[in-house]
Amino acid sequence: MLTTRQPILRRFWYAVMPLSQLADGPRPFTLLGEKIVLFLDEAGKPAALKDRCCHRTAQLSKGWCEGGKVVCGYHGWTYDRTGQVVRIPQYPAEKAIPCDYKTTAYHCEGRYGYAWVALEDPLEPIPPIPEFDDPAYRCIFQFYETWATSGLRFMENSFDNSHFSFVHKNTFGVAAQPKPSKYFIEETPNGFYAETTIDALNPPAFHRVSGLTDPATTRHMRNEWFRPFARRLDIEYPSGIRHIIINSLAPIDDGHIQITQWLFRNDTEADCPAQLLIDFDYEITREDKHIIESTDPDALVDTRRRGVEFSMESDRPGMIMRKQLMELLAAHGEQEVHRGSA
Ligand code: FES
Ligand code: CO
Repeated sequence: MLTTRQPILRRFWYAVMPLSQLADGPRPFTLLGEKIVLFLDEAGKPAALKDRCCHRTAQLSKGWCEGGKVVCGYHGWTYDRTGQVVRIPQYPAEKAIPCDYKTTAYHCEGRYGYAWVALEDPLEPIPPIPEFDDPAYRCIFQFYETWATSGLRFMENSFDNSHFSFVHKNTFGVAAQPKPSKYFIEETPNGFYAETTIDALNPPAFHRVSGLTDPATTRHMRNEWFRPFARRLDIEYPSGIRHIIINSLAPIDDGHIQITQWLFRNDTEADCPAQLLIDFDYEITREDKHIIESTDPDALVDTRRRGVEFSMESDRPGMIMRKQLMELLAAHGEQEVHRGSA
């Protein structure tokens, strides 16, 4: 599936940029192949417009902000969050600005420390992160980075427990147990819930992360997929420590995604410092990145195209994703577009 060629993906929310990065003025981002500019309005709320001035097409992200409006750096035309031109410095004060002098505005909201954007009317709400406002949890902003892959490849890997013994054999994967335990999976209106318990190695470097000193441990996982490209990976160790990873993937183009990763923990900085938790998950995600970036980002959702990719039982979560994405496309009159499509 080539994400930029499936218009329905424009109708979902994606975390695109930390709000903290907007403090110094407008910033560019490319979402589903579309160049957008993000900035903070007069209320300090994020706004997103097409990154193209309607005067002579300069990128608005090259300009600056004044009073919650974005000023084009070429001739100073100034835009509000609705995309309307509200000031043309070369005009006399009494001259009205035609109301069709505007650029496209997108849905944009500030949530969980990030600007979220939907290019068209969103079908579903921003995925919930109840721990963000729960004083029992601390929030660590772990990663905001670009991967050379697609959202579906990253998502299916998240729920594919048969890769641990191979991809993660140098960290937590148990090489002698290549067959993962069964997943309980229940489909939800906008994705699925998936629960299982896995065995994991617990070397001394991981003791503060797991709250355990045993050489091996179990991890009770209560995970969720929010279509198309968000997930919740909720790990509970026998110590009672919860290690809850949330990802939102923003498709940049057909071969790149911007990854946002939050971590929530029900322990304290004294129990396990944030930097140690960042380093821990960094090492594991590098193992995933290394192999995922070697796969074809054009992950097919039409499983009837037999012979292109074969599957096994542990691929079931990814197969449910494919089924739901196929249903989504069909419900909106779309067909999968892939390399080689007419
Ligand atoms: Fe933007 Fe001229 S191109 S003001
Ligand atoms: Co992995």
